[in-house]
Amino acid sequence: MKALVYNGPRDVRVKNVPDAKIERPTDVLVKITSTNICGSDLHMYEGRTDMEEGRVLGHENLGQVVEVGEAVDRIKVGDWVCLPFNVACGFCKNCEAGLTGFCLTTNPGTAGAAYGFAGMGPYSGGQAEYLRVPYADFNCLKLPDDAQEKENDYVMLSDIFPTGWHATELAGVKPGESVVIYGCGPVGLMAAHSAMIKGASKVIIVDSHPDRLALAEKIGAIAIDYSKGSAVEQILELTDGEGADRGCECVGYQCHDPAGHEVPNATMNDLVKSVRATGGIGVVGVFLPLDPGSSDKLAKKGEIVFDFGLFWVKGQRIATGQANVKAYNRYLCDLIHAGRAKPSWIVSHELALDEAPEAYKHFDARDNGWTKVILHPAGAQKSSKRQSTQKKAVRKKALHAH
Ligand SMILES: NC(=O)c1ccc[n+]([C@@H]2O[C@H](COP(=O)([O-])OP(=O)(O)OC[C@H]3O[C@@H](n4cnc5c(N)ncnc54)[C@H](O)[C@@H]3O)[C@@H](O)[C@H]2O)c1
Ligand SMILES: [Zn+2]
Ligand SMILES: [Zn+2]
Repeated sequence: MKALVYNGPRDVRVKNVPDAKIERPTDVLVKITSTNICGSDLHMYEGRTDMEEGRVLGHENLGQVVEVGEAVDRIKVGDWVCLPFNVACGFCKNCEAGLTGFCLTTNPGTAGAAYGFAGMGPYSGGQAEYLRVPYADFNCLKLPDDAQEKENDYVMLSDIFPTGWHATELAGVKPGESVVIYGCGPVGLMAAHSAMIKGASKVIIVDSHPDRLALAEKIGAIAIDYSKGSAVEQILELTDGEGADRGCECVGYQCHDPAGHEVPNATMNDLVKSVRATGGIGVVGVFLPLDPGSSDKLAKKGEIVFDFGLFWVKGQRIATGQANVKAYNRYLCDLIHAGRAKPSWIVSHELALDEAPEAYKHFDARDNGWTKVILHPAGAQKSSKRQSTQKKAVRKKALHAH
């Protein structure tokens, strides 16, 4: 089968690899029709992880089941399914508690596994024609009968919509509260979408990319361009000097100053200053225990200089970690089905698998207009059948503009 293979830093290629297949009776095999490129893929793409060469990337996957293992009860051939990026067992201590991002079975010796991911188990990714899904009865989210019609919305249930939602959960967002979000990439935009759905009174979002900020403004968020002045000062002005009730970190360890120089503690310390005393901070942006590729001495060891004194005096709370996708995906799916959520609003490009290496380049450069890319490995039929004329135009523009 064809798949996108990691070949070393900033080098990904579409190659023929051995077909994905059922390996255990609890597996199913899914023909992938939609698979996204994620900001997390970029940590690997940029060579900032110990990702092994030759592995297939892709953890945001949706498709149709083509084969089921002997021990699979619930999932049938022909079902349309969206797969959480977490590979979880369903029966360990953490899975039982709904914390499937920290499964103790699927990546022994640590907590949490994912498809096509450095340090998260041997599972192959879904930027490929087919994907093997372990513990399929537990992991597959079976989609409703509008699965194909709303495919671009449902594919966001694999990661970024639940992750944005998780940021607001970790921060403790309640109706009527004000929320500040650092990072206006796909995850930050989904945190803004989630905060709006939860009834936040004010959603403020910080980044330096005008195209991304303009998207956030379209759903009613207040955009702050931190390259044009202190974000903290503007947030305090917008919240009567108090700070926002809740803060979400949607950037991670590669956060940088407006000139692009990495300052690994920037967003965490800005959040402490931007959130009110006793407020909550949810951190879904990834921070690593080791980052040998960083130029910062402390960051190489996974450490940052954190304003703990101010944090303590303000009596704030911080919660962190991978999103437990299964804790939310069923409900967020119902919101999409009912027309109350539409996460596809951030999609900028729909491309074939062969176009993935180019797409990685543009998304990694955060080129203007490259907000979120969906790849369609089972592409040809899909584009002619389901892509709207408008989307076709976007795709065409995308291919010829760069
Ligand atoms: N916890 C989870 O389960 C989970 C899941 C998916 C993604 N993630 C992580 O979330 C983070 C964001 O993902 P994404 O796909 O949106 O990535 P992205 O890289 O496309 O977006 C990050 C955005 O942050 C902005 N940014 C950089 N420095 C900043 C600063 N100092 N202040 C404000 N904004 C700044 C960038 O300009 C960019 O637009 C990544 O670290 C990703 O790995 C976590
Ligand atoms: Zn992702
Ligand atoms: Zn488990």
